[in-house]
Amino acid sequence: MFEAFLMLFFGLIVLLITVSIIYNTVKLGISPMPSSKKAYIAMMQLADDTGSGTIIDLGSGWGNFVIGIAKKFPHRKIVGYELSYLPWLTSSLLKKAYGLKNLTLYRQNFYQADLSEASVLVCYLFPEAMIKISNKLQLEQSNIQFLISNNFALPKSEPLKKIQLNDFYNSPVYLYKMSELYSLNLEK
Ligand SMILES: C[S@@+](CC[C@H](N)C(=O)[O-])C[C@H]1O[C@@H](n2cnc3c(N)ncnc32)[C@H](O)[C@@H]1O
Repeated sequence: MFEAFLMLFFGLIVLLITVSIIYNTVKLGISPMPSSKKAYIAMMQLADDTGSGTIIDLGSGWGNFVIGIAKKFPHRKIVGYELSYLPWLTSSLLKKAYGLKNLTLYRQNFYQADLSEASVLVCYLFPEAMIKISNKLQLEQSNIQFLISNNFALPKSEPLKKIQLNDFYNSPVYLYKMSELYSLNLEK
């Protein structure tokens, strides 16, 4: 009897987790799938060339990138925005477990967030999200210096660097210098 109750309890938890992830994936247009190991290494490598300012991950998922980069740069401020509850909760628990005082995780929509403290933006999203981000950044004309994007290009911008991964799709990871995007807007 007790075993049946336990099985039902864990079954319900698994169901709730699955429903919550599916719901947020449909709502946000992307699942919390982390960057691949190769992309993660490329993103870390590109971040080396971005100075010492705040890094913000737009959609930090389960925390793979933000936890890694916060450990790598203990003196740099790292911020993650994530709307999906379970990934956000998991990354917050990992942050506590590793005692990462330089990492802040918000459960908030990054389109509505004030990103002005960022020096570097990082993302692994999808094409429509890149258009929205590009529009937001051009409107706000903040001091953001770099954007690192796994797989998806920023519209109408030439990357400063591009790493082509040695994977099945030869996926690109881009580093953009934001002054180029802002000057595009001024030229209009
Ligand atoms: C593919 S994952 C990337 C995770 C992590 N950045 C990485 O590279 O491993 C994209 C994440 O963005 C989150 N997301 C999408 N749109 C969002 C929004 N408007 N505000 C906050 N999070 C968002 C999704 O919930 C998802 O977890």
